[in-house]
Amino acid sequence: MGFKEIFGALPEASAQAPGRVNLLGEHTDYQEGYVLPTPLPYFTQVEVGRAQGRVEAYSETLGELRARPLASPPQGDFLDYLLGVVWALREAGYEVPGARFYVRSQVPLGAGLSSSAALEVAALRALRALYRLPLSDKDLALLGQKAKVEYVGVRCGLMDQMAASLGQPGKALFLDTRTLAYENLPLPPGTRVAVLDLGLGRRLAEAGYNQRRREAEEAARRLGVRALRDVADLCLVESLPFPLDKRARHIVSENLRVLRGVEALRRGDGRAFGELMTQSHRSLSQDYEVSLPELDELVDEALKAGALGAKLTGAGFGGAVVALVEETRQQAFQEALRARFPTLRFL
Ligand code: GLA
Repeated sequence: MGFKEIFGALPEASAQAPGRVNLLGEHTDYQEGYVLPTPLPYFTQVEVGRAQGRVEAYSETLGELRARPLASPPQGDFLDYLLGVVWALREAGYEVPGARFYVRSQVPLGAGLSSSAALEVAALRALRALYRLPLSDKDLALLGQKAKVEYVGVRCGLMDQMAASLGQPGKALFLDTRTLAYENLPLPPGTRVAVLDLGLGRRLAEAGYNQRRREAEEAARRLGVRALRDVADLCLVESLPFPLDKRARHIVSENLRVLRGVEALRRGDGRAFGELMTQSHRSLSQDYEVSLPELDELVDEALKAGALGAKLTGAGFGGAVVALVEETRQQAFQEALRARFPTLRFL
C-alpha cells in the first residue's frame, strides 16, 4: 500500500521527523525553563499531495483513512494533528488550500515519546516543501505547538516539537524555552541512551499534567515572578504552602540540573550526567509526584543493572524510562533487566 493506491495520484513531497526522549529538564518548559531532549532513531514519515478545502490522511500504522473539511472541529483522532497544522499555517497567513497525507510511523504510540510532535513536524516539513513556505525549523516547531494547544486542545510546552524539528542524532538539544536559544551538544562519549518501555500507557496523564501546570502557575504567582524560571534561590520555595513548595522545588532544582548537565556534557562526563538524571527522577517522583511505583522500580533496577543514570521521560503518569548506559555494559544491562522484567521492551 502507498500514497498512489490510496489517493490515485503520486505524492508531490515527503518528509520525516523523529520521536524524542527527554534526558533532563522535565516539566520546566511551561515555566520558561531549560530542557535537554534527544531525538530517537524512530521516525514518522509523511508523503503529501494537494487538496482543496479539506485534509485527508491514511495512517499505515492504524490502517485508517480519514477526511474532513478544513473548518471541522477536532474529533480525537490522528487527523486532528494534520488538520491542526494546516489550520495553524492558515492562521499565520500562509496559502494552504488543503492537503492529503500518507503517514507511516515507527515512533511507538502511547509511550511518552512524542509521536504526535513527530507527526506534526513531519507534516509541516512536507507542507513547507509542497507549498514552498518560507519557514525556519524553529517556526515549524512553534506552529506545531500552536496546533496542539489551540486546535487539538492539549496543553503542552514547546519541548517536543523543538526536539523533533531541531534535534540531531547522538546529540542533546539544550533549549532555553524563554529565549528559544538552543545548542546541540554531543552525548557523553562511550555511552548509549536506552529507552525502556513496560507498556504502562499513560493513565490520567492529561488531567495530572494540567493540574501540575496550574500548581506551577500558582507558585509563580505567589512568589511574584513571571515564571519559576526566574527563581534562582531554592530557599525561596520554602515559603510556599504545601504542595506548592514541592512543585516549585522540583522546577527550580530541575532547571539547575539542566545547567549542570550541560556542563557535564561539555566535559564529556557521563557519570556526572547520569547522576543528574537519577536526581531528576527522584525529584519528579517525590516532589512533582508524576511517577508510578512501576516506574520507580524500573529506575532502581536499571541502576542496579549498571546504568549511569535513569529517569522517567516526558509527562510521567506512565510512559517510558530513559537510561544512560556505558556502551561496554550495554549487553549485560539488557540481560539483567530482561531477566527481571520479561515483558520489557528496549526501544
Ligand atoms: C509533555 C509535554 C512537554 C513537557 C513534558 C514534561 O511531554 O508535551 O511539553 O511539558 O510533558 O517535561
